[in-house]
Amino acid sequence: MPEVSGLSQAPTHVAIIMDGNGRWANARGLHRTQGHAAGEPALFDVVHGALEMGIEWLTVYTFSTENWSRDEYEVSFLMEFNVDLLERRRDELNELGVRVIFMGDLDDPRIPPVLLDRIRDAEELTADNTKMSMVFAFNYGGRREIVDAVRSIVEDGVDSDAVDEGLIRQHLYIPDMPDPELVIRTSGEQRTSNYLLWEAAYSEYVVTEVLWPDFDRYELARCVEEYQARERRFGGAVDASLGDSSG
Ligand code: IPE
Ligand code: IPE
Ligand code: MG
Repeated sequence: MPEVSGLSQAPTHVAIIMDGNGRWANARGLHRTQGHAAGEPALFDVVHGALEMGIEWLTVYTFSTENWSRDEYEVSFLMEFNVDLLERRRDELNELGVRVIFMGDLDDPRIPPVLLDRIRDAEELTADNTKMSMVFAFNYGGRREIVDAVRSIVEDGVDSDAVDEGLIRQHLYIPDMPDPELVIRTSGEQRTSNYLLWEAAYSEYVVTEVLWPDFDRYELARCVEEYQARERRFGGAVDASLGDSSG
């Protein structure tokens, strides 16, 4: 397979909302859970593509704080699938130089203890890797993350005058994680679904119609190219020279 490197200025951090597994399965007369299983090769192709492009942080939304509302069978499938995936893939990720980090509320008693063990194993095994940090947003909610940050600030007894954006950032789940320049959502849905509410304040969003199991490194590269054609303003004025044909 050809490589996808050579793109100019790869973003440092790409965050993905991997959506559309259920629809992918439904379209094939399969159970929703088979759509989740079909998302695994897509995820690992994206890991390879991200490494080739020199992306340093890759964050993937694997389970939201709202996903507990799905039926019990699907939720327990997803828990077991994560255990299984970490057991089967952690060595490969380690050999690729990927550091695995889980981001979310891991104190939730609904998370099976065996999954917490596998998470710890994968994080410990890969802790010293430096090629790319791969963040699994799991039992993650942007609102929960901000609530947790506020709680720990209050527990620290911080004076209200000392609360600013920098302090809140220091209390997010991964304080040294740079903000994603690019957030990709698959399956055509145009909403954040509680993803990285603080961190993605000025991220560029690229929505692709591709369902997650059909996503791959080439679609990743296409999304990155779409991002690279954007003008990021961060609240500043539109460049006056744009659209000025007199130069
Ligand atoms: C995303 O696919 C995976 C998870 C939320 C775990 P969905 O399961 O949401 O698939 P659709 O959106 O129903 O097609
Ligand atoms: C967001 O997708 C969560 C994950 C991809 C893990 P959902 O499918 O849960 O989001 P909604 O319900 O369509 O907003
Ligand atoms: Mg969905």
